[in-house]
Amino acid sequence: MRVDIVSLFPEFVAQCAAFGVVGRAQERALLSLHGWNPRDYAPGNYRRVDDRPFGGGPGMVMLIDPLHDAIEAARAADPADAHVVYLTPQGTRLTQAKVRELAALPRLILLCGRYEGVDERLIEAEVDEELSIGDYVLSGGELAAAVLVDAVARLQEGALNDAESALQDSFEGGVLDCPHYTRPVEHALGKVPDVLLSGNHAQIARWRRMESLGRTWLRRPDLLDEQGLGKADRALLEDFRARYLRGLDEPDGDA
Ligand code: ADE
Repeated sequence: MRVDIVSLFPEFVAQCAAFGVVGRAQERALLSLHGWNPRDYAPGNYRRVDDRPFGGGPGMVMLIDPLHDAIEAARAADPADAHVVYLTPQGTRLTQAKVRELAALPRLILLCGRYEGVDERLIEAEVDEELSIGDYVLSGGELAAAVLVDAVARLQEGALNDAESALQDSFEGGVLDCPHYTRPVEHALGKVPDVLLSGNHAQIARWRRMESLGRTWLRRPDLLDEQGLGKADRALLEDFRARYLRGLDEPDGDA
């Protein structure tokens, strides 16, 4: 997959993508990142990329032409059709389902704004989709672009090693991930749940599913409402609730 970053600080996103799974995806040629700085397309000695907003008010608005020319240069650098995403708090909230959709595309162009925003006419003419990574305001789209690059990179075929399977991630399947434990079994901070040491794979799978459902119920009931639970899951959630309401909400393994 090819991702082009249109930003006043394209190296910011490249730095975030240099490590771990995303860095490895680049080394394995599963992901190629390219930066385009609108300042390189701004005329004059000052290379101006922003101006005051019509109608008054604070802050500056990014000019159409430097952004337009940077996006067109990015488009022209590869024949594959590019889906253009503008990262903005005004966008639709990014979800794992959207990440999966975008990860399957051959090309993305990510537009990162600074200042008060981008001239609306540029967005209307060039942008296919506006996405937000959450209900808070960052000082620019670069961190949001880095988040999106990370999320799509790890879904590229071959990016994760077997042990890192994406299928077990939170949100895959509409629920949060279950708790995880490693050595030692006994620690001053507590003991690993017995069921995980039992070697009984059916019981372990049941416990993990129950913990996932229970956590989702406790922490993100909005996700659980969206999911039409099957009979077995409803029974697991009932067991979790009963245990929780009895005050036995510690993951103690005798589920
Ligand atoms: N730019 C500034 N804040 C943002 C957010 N929450 N999501 C995406 N892009 C942004």
